[in-house]
Amino acid sequence: MRHLMNPLDFTVEELDSLFDLANDIEKYPAKYAHACEGKKLATCFYEPSTRTRLSFESAMLSLGGQVLGFSDAGSSSASKGESVSDTIRVISCFADICAMRHPKEGAPMVAADKSSIPVINAGDGGHQHPTQTLTDLLTIRSMKGRLGHFTIGLCGDLKFGRTVHSLINALVRYPDIHFVFISPPELKVPDYITDMLTEKGISYEEVIRLETCMPDLDLLYMTRVQRERFFNEEDYVRLKDFYILNKAKMAPAKKDMLVLHPLPRVNEISVEVDDDPRAVYFKQVQYGVYVRMALILTLLDIDIETMESQHGKE
Ligand code: CP
Repeated sequence: MRHLMNPLDFTVEELDSLFDLANDIEKYPAKYAHACEGKKLATCFYEPSTRTRLSFESAMLSLGGQVLGFSDAGSSSASKGESVSDTIRVISCFADICAMRHPKEGAPMVAADKSSIPVINAGDGGHQHPTQTLTDLLTIRSMKGRLGHFTIGLCGDLKFGRTVHSLINALVRYPDIHFVFISPPELKVPDYITDMLTEKGISYEEVIRLETCMPDLDLLYMTRVQRERFFNEEDYVRLKDFYILNKAKMAPAKKDMLVLHPLPRVNEISVEVDDDPRAVYFKQVQYGVYVRMALILTLLDIDIETMESQHGKE
């Protein structure tokens, strides 16, 4: 049995197979419509979510499976003091696979340790968000035709942003990537990440102004300043509108630069950018469903080709 806690849990070759599968699902959705019949996905979300939870549920429903779960710790027995370890033992009796989001770093890992079904980390505090990273990588690979050989700007909250931490960790395995970290000093990328890049000989720069690097970027990954990660409201209010990407700022960018964002957005991308063909953050959401479908099939060890040949024999 296999879990997904970190994007690095899959080798580069395994990720390639997962993305090939996701692209096949995108092309031939009907082929997969019954792949998970009789299977159940539990979504255990101790923290708010729109995309991750609903895209997991949409993914399982599109595979012909069923879904159950909770979207708020307050409506689960966590509010009565039940531990994550006990909850997952219970969920293992109800479902075949579980996606878990938790505000505490490492909580899905604790669950995986006690689980008898595959557990997927759907975001743990400021730590990792592996399925968002799979979504980001699939979007880049599908739209650019490659992973590697590009300059990527990551902009906004690079300190608390788990999507950013996961994406950097995943991208360092691909060749010829230059990172541009764009943040106010208070939200700069943690030292352990820049230390890791230095150790691996991967080039990066840290800048404060978005305008200075726009013409150099092949990809721009915007992020939200996350109110929920701040210890005081004053700091959040001071930093929340530090970056606002608008049409004027897009003007000097390359014609084929892509703008990604894990969403939700607040003010950091003006809605006037949404119609720019380089703005792909809503396409990214769609890729998130395909990659989660591929992930569910992979973790449940369901091979559609084998299923089809067995049906053919019956
Ligand atoms: N990108 C993302 O994780 O969005 P949600 O918080 O809505 O799941």
